[in-house]
Amino acid sequence: MEFPRLRPRRLRLNENIRSLIRETSLSLDDLILPVFVRYGEGIKEEVPSMPGVYRYSVDKVVDEVKEARDLGIKAVILFGIPEHKDEVGSDTWNDEGIIQRTLRKLKKEVPEMYLITDVCFCEYTTHGHCGVLCGSTVCNDETLENLKKQVVSHAKNGADMVAPSGMMDGMVKAIREALDDAGFKNIPIMAYSAKFASAFYGPFREAAESSPSFGDRRSYQMDPANAREALKEVLLDVKEGADVVMVKPALSYLDIIYRVKEATLLPVCAYNVSGEYSMVKAAGRMGWIDEKKVVWEMLVSMKRAGADMIITYFAKDVAKMIIKGEVG
Ligand code: PBG
Repeated sequence: MEFPRLRPRRLRLNENIRSLIRETSLSLDDLILPVFVRYGEGIKEEVPSMPGVYRYSVDKVVDEVKEARDLGIKAVILFGIPEHKDEVGSDTWNDEGIIQRTLRKLKKEVPEMYLITDVCFCEYTTHGHCGVLCGSTVCNDETLENLKKQVVSHAKNGADMVAPSGMMDGMVKAIREALDDAGFKNIPIMAYSAKFASAFYGPFREAAESSPSFGDRRSYQMDPANAREALKEVLLDVKEGADVVMVKPALSYLDIIYRVKEATLLPVCAYNVSGEYSMVKAAGRMGWIDEKKVVWEMLVSMKRAGADMIITYFAKDVAKMIIKGEVG
């Protein structure tokens, strides 16, 4: 059969039928909110390049996480900015470190929230690189030893899941062994498996004070031109014992999300990164785009490409849209 008997527009006539045939949905179940915690007391400061995103001191972060809970968000991922940085980032495995204190506080005051920790060193080192330096690059195997200490300390202090983001070789295996040996066999690992060396991280680095003081991250993060290499990284992480794999950034990498979803049976997370957030906020504020509609379309596209969950600074905005029924 063909036109004029065949008319695809019949299924677009009104919202009732459109919603019946809709293939992809976005719900509160899909969202993970990033939260920045910094040293000090009584602090809530907006990140200049990320309007609507704040850095909180440990005492204030509870308000943010309670607000997220009240909106129906079930998971947060924590990023810390310590008072003292050093060459190796030792705050990351200190039981009195910024993340450890935050975990204890949140576990006590917002026990319903699922707490994921970003596991890295760039916010904690004086040089801003994601591990221990050997000359001008990051040494892989020495960094693995410190990653093990970091994840065990996170788990001991209440992390529900750890998310290593440093792109070190063998990091998932090392972390799995360390967690199991310390008795944390039920703590899952969400691996930033395909993390690209991206200019879209710019605003985050301002927020987290994590810019490298020299050079860049191209000797550990991936070349944006490579898709097959992303699959190689994902398959290695699957073999090493990852529970969830991640693609980051998301918007310019929808093809990678799609290919990763085809290549593995693990759940796939997409990280809708800081630069993607700031671009949309800026254009929305200028009145150049309809911010809410653009946000919805972007996140639905990530789901359509294959993401099972999305880390996004828009999580609270989206939750409010869902609650008010402003979507679809
Ligand atoms: C590393 C880390 C980064 C982001 C998340 N984890 C920064 C980097 O690799 O330089 C970026 C997130 C974003 O841009 O939103 N700890």
